Amino acid sequence: MIVTTKQLFEQAYGKYALGAYNINNAEQTMGLFRGNVQSQAPFIIQISKGARSYTNKLMLEAMIRTADEIFPESVFAVHLDHGDEETCYDCIESGFYSSVMIDASSLPFEENVATTKRVVERAHAKGVSVEAELGQLGGVEEDISVREDQVHLTDPEQAAEFIRRTGCDSLACAIGTSHGAFKFSGSQSLHFEVVEAIQKLVPGFPLVLHGSSSVPQDEVERINAAGGALKGAKGVDATQYLPAAKLGVCKINIDTDGRLVWTRVHREYFRDHPEVFDFRPIGKVFMEEYARFIASRNELLSSAGRLAEVRAALSK
Ligand code: 13P
Repeated sequence: MIVTTKQLFEQAYGKYALGAYNINNAEQTMGLFRGNVQSQAPFIIQISKGARSYTNKLMLEAMIRTADEIFPESVFAVHLDHGDEETCYDCIESGFYSSVMIDASSLPFEENVATTKRVVERAHAKGVSVEAELGQLGGVEEDISVREDQVHLTDPEQAAEFIRRTGCDSLACAIGTSHGAFKFSGSQSLHFEVVEAIQKLVPGFPLVLHGSSSVPQDEVERINAAGGALKGAKGVDATQYLPAAKLGVCKINIDTDGRLVWTRVHREYFRDHPEVFDFRPIGKVFMEEYARFIASRNELLSSAGRLAEVRAALSK
């Protein structure tokens, strides 16, 4: 069942965070739904600009509608990840998306405010909610690449002003995470004091963490042992998800980890079965492994086991 992102945030606030997982193809979609239903978790499907053009944006919508039929128990929202203004408007007008993210975080503050405000007006007129971003995360994601010297944490006072002036529904804040598999060169340093300070200024307002993949080291080792070259890959400590949720983080974005599952499964399979050229046996393994991975993340986010209470609250 597709619900609004707002409904999910209302249920989750202060208790748990929703996993926001990116999809690109049918195998990921099947694994994603399976994992969430197995762990009885509500969730958010993220569609990036790159995913919309990978096959075709309508293909993704059709896959999601079909998965909804195959897994009637599921409860989820559909979200545009890192949209520019034009893509946001396309998603808003499509009537399919629960929420969009306008990422104008690379612009100066006043331009970020003005751009976000324009998107909020168009989105709210159609009942779509808007995630905005303030501060700059590092790393590489699709066509967004931010150098280390451009990274800056979200300023809590500015965040409160930004939220008030734009009318956005949730805010992605930069607290030291970054996109991709290479997040930290030394030990990880997440700035929870930033989240805490924002929560104090805007209590009850949903916050979002991008760049939250944990880049499991056993996964990286297996990929490297099977011919990969991901030396030094490092992610967020996944035991930090729940403390973040308690501070008002309602949505935690995880994409890279899913790609690592895909890479490990495929590298190992073709290393061990060099005679195989059929994509279905490996596709099946991936769907299983991805479902298992999703369920394990939901446990850490504490969204696992929440489906019954969310359904009950939604039917009131
Ligand atoms: P990761 O690269 O850490 O998975 O982050 C994904 C993300 O933030 C998508 O917007």
